[in-house]
Amino acid sequence: MPLTPVLTRNWDDPQCWTLASYLGQGGYRGLGAALAMSAEEVVGAVKDAGLRGRGGAGFPTGTKWSFLPPLDPEHPKPHYLVVNADESEPGTCKDIPLMFASPHTLVEGAIITAYAIGCHHAFIYVRGEVVPVLRRLQAAVAEAYAAGYLGPNVCGSGFDLELIVHAGAGAYICGEETALLDSLEGRRGQPRLRPPFPATEGLYACPTVVNNVESIASVPAILRAGVDWFRSMGTEKSPGFTIYSLSGHVQRPGQYEAPLGITLRELLDYAGGVRAGHRLKFWTPGGSSTPILTDAHLDVPLDYEGVTAAGSMLGTKALQIFDETTCVVRAVSRWTRFYAHESCGKCTPCREGTYWLVQIFDRLERGDGTEADLDKLLDIADNMFGRVFCALGDGATSPITSSLEHFVDEYRAHLTPQGCPFDPIAAMPNG
Ligand code: NAI
Repeated sequence: MPLTPVLTRNWDDPQCWTLASYLGQGGYRGLGAALAMSAEEVVGAVKDAGLRGRGGAGFPTGTKWSFLPPLDPEHPKPHYLVVNADESEPGTCKDIPLMFASPHTLVEGAIITAYAIGCHHAFIYVRGEVVPVLRRLQAAVAEAYAAGYLGPNVCGSGFDLELIVHAGAGAYICGEETALLDSLEGRRGQPRLRPPFPATEGLYACPTVVNNVESIASVPAILRAGVDWFRSMGTEKSPGFTIYSLSGHVQRPGQYEAPLGITLRELLDYAGGVRAGHRLKFWTPGGSSTPILTDAHLDVPLDYEGVTAAGSMLGTKALQIFDETTCVVRAVSRWTRFYAHESCGKCTPCREGTYWLVQIFDRLERGDGTEADLDKLLDIADNMFGRVFCALGDGATSPITSSLEHFVDEYRAHLTPQGCPFDPIAAMPNG
């Protein structure tokens, strides 16, 4: 399957982030096409294209837009658009480079989306620690205002839009859409109970579309090149192209834009394979919140259905590659520590569960673990999965249950006074 650079097509241009470069690549033509259509027609086009949310869940984007209640002149409640640019899932590195290299793709997508949903105030909530990305976004938004793509009467269409770039303060939980909304409103970022979903009650309790960066950035190309073109890539249920991030023990880590349904085997060919002299041991399809897969899954189609059928989830398409030098217990232990640190503490199973999981992993690593600890890991995971407030707690259990399923012998190999039998130096990239 060939690579399909659409969102990444101008990344090699030395001035790729500027408006001039973007216009030279056909930028803002999607906006022109959208403004010549009615808002309903734009929603219809995105629905027909079958674009699915690229933040991880794969929820159909056009369907989400159509959930907003109609604007009611009698009881005016504004519609808001909030772009979730708080990319934080371990191994996920697609939205950050996209905004850094081509911020106008996101700005154009946000304008089209706002027009489609009848929104006059839109927000980009960006991960605040990534200051260069924040600066590039702010510069792109300023350029778009100066060129008449933002502000009153966008491109002479009569449509008004203010776009605000807001920097978060660096909490993983603020990537969860309702915690993000609380944070944007100036409160401590903690998830809200859903329903109501943001589509009916979101920012300031008003109907709100929350979409991931890559989802919004994919919209201009659909308007520019058409639904049939988009559907000519990918599969029937997972159409189009997407950005896969490859990291870990791979020769050429980075972002690879390809049709949905490509396999890891094919992507590894583009990325030069697993590091020289080593073999694939396990990998994640969508960052650490998705069950791990093994070398038996090299030919799984990387689309929403294919990865689910293989027992995992496509998630953020963050393919973290680990070779045979990696101790799976140690890798899962590191992720678990991350979740314990990032748990917001609002719900008991996640707050307490992640804490106890870390204690057990520490025992296993030190050589103080017992067979009962392995059962306890599964028991705690079972008491978290589906019983927590948001996806963080569920995600924390995924690598644990899946690694125990695929590598229980490796866990057992830790039940000696020596603990972990692996050499941590060998697993380092230059080990
Ligand atoms: P979800 O499946 O609950 O919801 C997905 C989207 O659809 C949300 O915007 C939700 O509001 C909307 N939705 C679902 N049902 C709806 C309904 N009946 N009415 C109106 N809207 C509805 O998934 P969630 O919890 O929002 O996200 C979980 C995903 O996030 C995971 O799959 C994970 O891969 C991903 N994730 C991504 C991270 C990143 O850095 N990009 C970080 C952590 C997790």
